[in-house]
Amino acid sequence: MTLSLIYARSENRCIGADGGLPWRLPDEFKHFKQTTMGRPIIMGRRTYADHDNVLPGRANVVLTSRKDFNPKNGVELRHDLDAALREFGADGGEVFVIGGAGLFAEAFPRADRVYETVVHAEVEGDTFLPEFDFAGWTSTKIETHPADDRHPFAFTITRYDRDR
Ligand SMILES: NC(=O)c1ccc[n+]([C@@H]2O[C@H](COP(=O)([O-])OP(=O)(O)OC[C@H]3O[C@@H](n4cnc5c(N)ncnc54)[C@H](OP(=O)(O)O)[C@@H]3O)[C@@H](O)[C@H]2O)c1
Repeated sequence: MTLSLIYARSENRCIGADGGLPWRLPDEFKHFKQTTMGRPIIMGRRTYADHDNVLPGRANVVLTSRKDFNPKNGVELRHDLDAALREFGADGGEVFVIGGAGLFAEAFPRADRVYETVVHAEVEGDTFLPEFDFAGWTSTKIETHPADDRHPFAFTITRYDRDR
């Protein structure tokens, strides 16, 4: 199994505001969709609540400690990250952790790959990504996207692979 994290963060490491994303960047979302399509995506309960929907073409796995949580049909509810990784990575393929902040922190020490979008702005919000140390990782620039009429901020996408 390849464990991958995928996120977009601002220069000041903000990833969320009021339960949602602090920006609307359609081409960044396209990158997220293309990258994760066909593979399992694991998310925390609040990240799921943000869209309250099933993202098509992928197993949608929601982690919660609650036993009474009632998500939409098609959502796979689980209560433990390691067990979910074993189960949904059993085919040996890529499994994505898609947030939020606590899950990224829990998954980073054992991640194989990180798809990081840096949104080139200082943004206000309430959810922040911890610092990740990419010493011992190889970085590959994927895309630099300018600000334009559909994108209020420029952003850069980098892929990091842990050296083995
Ligand atoms: N920019 C990005 O790339 C990005 C990505 C994802 C999310 N976001 C944003 O981040 C915010 C949400 O993130 P968040 O950090 O507040 O919350 P979150 O991680 O989405 O959800 C936290 C909840 O998930 C459950 N959970 C997390 N880890 C678990 C584990 N190991 N085992 C069992 N349950 C676990 C717990 O639910 P219970 O309380 O039910 O036990 C916990 O309270 C939103 O604003 C969202 O839009 C941004």
